[in-house]
Amino acid sequence: MKEPRDNTQFVKIEHAAQILRAGDVVAMPTETVYGLAGNAQSDDAVVKIFETKSRPRFNPLIVHCATREMVEAIAEFPPLADILADKFWPGPLTMVLPKRDDAALSDLVTAGLDTVAIRMPKHEMARELIRQAGFPVAAPSANPSGKLSPTTAQHVLDGFEGRVPVIDGGPATEGVESTIVAVHDDQLILLRPGTISREALTEATGRSVLDPQDKTIKAPGMLLSHYAPNAAVRLNASDCVDGEAALNFGNSELTSAKAKLNLSAEGDLAEAARNLFSYLRKLDQAGVHTIAVAPIPELGLGEAINDRLRRAAADRN
Ligand code: TXA
Ligand code: MG
Repeated sequence: MKEPRDNTQFVKIEHAAQILRAGDVVAMPTETVYGLAGNAQSDDAVVKIFETKSRPRFNPLIVHCATREMVEAIAEFPPLADILADKFWPGPLTMVLPKRDDAALSDLVTAGLDTVAIRMPKHEMARELIRQAGFPVAAPSANPSGKLSPTTAQHVLDGFEGRVPVIDGGPATEGVESTIVAVHDDQLILLRPGTISREALTEATGRSVLDPQDKTIKAPGMLLSHYAPNAAVRLNASDCVDGEAALNFGNSELTSAKAKLNLSAEGDLAEAARNLFSYLRKLDQAGVHTIAVAPIPELGLGEAINDRLRRAAADRN
């Protein structure tokens, strides 16, 4: 049973900044998904993030910054990173960069790696929170590990059953987690597709974007079954069997007596990304054993949508 909605768990930015300064965690809106924020300089705060999510400690966190000064105190910044920052920050791009030797960061944030994942969110409330806190903020998605990422404040309250205070910044406008790209001198490696597409990265830099050779090292979180609803997920469905819910895209026509939604009737991939996690949640609430999903083109933002769907459909043991 769900806890009743508790308004005391909705907090203003000023209060949230106090919570962060006191070494506690708070959920913040970003344009991609809501994040579970804590002081990236504090071992205690970072431990609280891992514990709240039940996240394995070997899976490093993204550090969120409000300014370029904050970023440059943490990471080395090769020219290619400069180009990407000018073009895409603030916004839904995370860069994995060499960590500076003198970076003031908890070692738990990077899980002992010599690189650090950094992003400057576009959502004004996220950057204002970081500015008011006065330090960079570590923030994984604000959901129990392995579950669907939250795209509304209510999703956060539901996921943690009201145990984590949240700033309500409205529904996320992007809807899937940031694109993660590792910048190695003059090479770009796509660790996680997002709404900033592979094509957009190439257009901005003139470089082709490589795939990781060894995903276990480059992005530890990426191998696991992830972003999973309670129901099983069946991809590239051309029809629905009895008892399944249907998730359509464009003019696909999966029908279901249980529950049916269309990610974007117009076939707009940005709209589909925005709706993805909340529609999976809604179909899950119909109590079905399986959600059948129509094919989605693997182009542009489609790569990020299909990546999340494949993880939702992956083996869960
Ligand atoms: O949109 C987003 O990125 C959201 C919002 C809250 O900003 N955050 C998010 O964080 O999705 P999380 O923790 O769910 O995903 C971070 C990913 C993980 O797969 C982790 O393995 C990878 O980033 N990562 C973090 N640091 C890394 C590093 N130094 N090298 C490679 N991968 C890293
Ligand atoms: Mg996550």
